[in-house]
Amino acid sequence: MRVFVTGASGWIGSAVVPELLEAGHEVVGLARSDEAVAALTAAGATAQRGNLDDLESLRAGAEASDGVIHLAFKHDFSDMAGAGRTERAAIQMLGDTLAGSDRPLLFASGVALIAPGRVVTERDAAPMSGPDSPRGGSEQLALGYAECGVRSVSLRFAPTVHGAGDHGFISRIVGVAREKGTSGYVGQGSNRWPAVHRLDAAHMIALALEKAPAGSVVHGVGEEGIPARRIAEVIGSRLHIPVTSVAPDDIASQFGWIGAFFGLDIPASSTLTQEMLGWTPAHPGLLEDLEAGYYFRPASQ
Ligand SMILES: NC(=O)c1ccc[n+]([C@@H]2O[C@H](COP(=O)([O-])OP(=O)(O)OC[C@H]3O[C@@H](n4cnc5c(N)ncnc54)[C@H](OP(=O)(O)O)[C@@H]3O)[C@@H](O)[C@H]2O)c1
Repeated sequence: MRVFVTGASGWIGSAVVPELLEAGHEVVGLARSDEAVAALTAAGATAQRGNLDDLESLRAGAEASDGVIHLAFKHDFSDMAGAGRTERAAIQMLGDTLAGSDRPLLFASGVALIAPGRVVTERDAAPMSGPDSPRGGSEQLALGYAECGVRSVSLRFAPTVHGAGDHGFISRIVGVAREKGTSGYVGQGSNRWPAVHRLDAAHMIALALEKAPAGSVVHGVGEEGIPARRIAEVIGSRLHIPVTSVAPDDIASQFGWIGAFFGLDIPASSTLTQEMLGWTPAHPGLLEDLEAGYYFRPASQ
């Protein structure tokens, strides 16, 4: 299959590219910079210049492909509404281009805001649709293309897709602990965070490309829910700093913007995904990855 991958130069995308090549696919990655072109070429993929605001570049990539994996996202937490609008427009262009072809359109989403407080499964629908909902309601928009002859599949990732080189939520939480001199958790710290290793997530995506049916939801979740206190304890132990409970009123001053996430109880299951795809997460869990030490090395090492 000739697969058009947006976000191919990103954290998850750069692990997906070798998975796809290994499985015998041809990969064309969307690249918005010379650095991304160089990275994709070095990885054995072909680069196609373009960006999320250049919808014609998305149309051209999808048109020339046998399937699309859409991972690019503007991670600008100061303008999530704008990022959501961009996402929605991109999904619409990709979906319209693939309509009537039965080609796959896999797109990134998350398990985090579906139903805090209980274990979310693949059967749970996103609670809201429309431009004002989280991520612009792009999951429902994209899954709707299953009715238009597109094999659309939602790739819902755990909020931490971890591994060596991670620059996402967990590395931010480590950074906050370092800055504050204490490793915090909210309240009792019993709120749970699901996690998945980056290489397990990449393998799941490659399997979903081949096997997931139209309109399906798959969960990139290797661990259902790790209590936040355990995460804070490992971080505190590695940084040799105290581990403290943070009162709900102090979340913003301790954690900044990431506190809105780290205090959430958002466990999620991937049992149905594992059964559907024959996928078994095999790489280290989050605490093991934290214990491995690379989250705590200076950036130059
Ligand atoms: N990592 C996680 O823990 C996690 C958890 C849940 C959901 N997700 C979702 O999974 C997807 C992939 O995440 P990730 O961790 O791989 O993100 P990432 O490392 O930030 O990579 C984002 C990718 O999007 C590209 N991109 C950003 N803005 C763009 C634009 N305007 N035009 C074209 N490309 C653009 C980046 O290109 P450059 O390489 O040029 O910067 C990069 O390739 C995202 O939708 C993310 O929200 C991730």
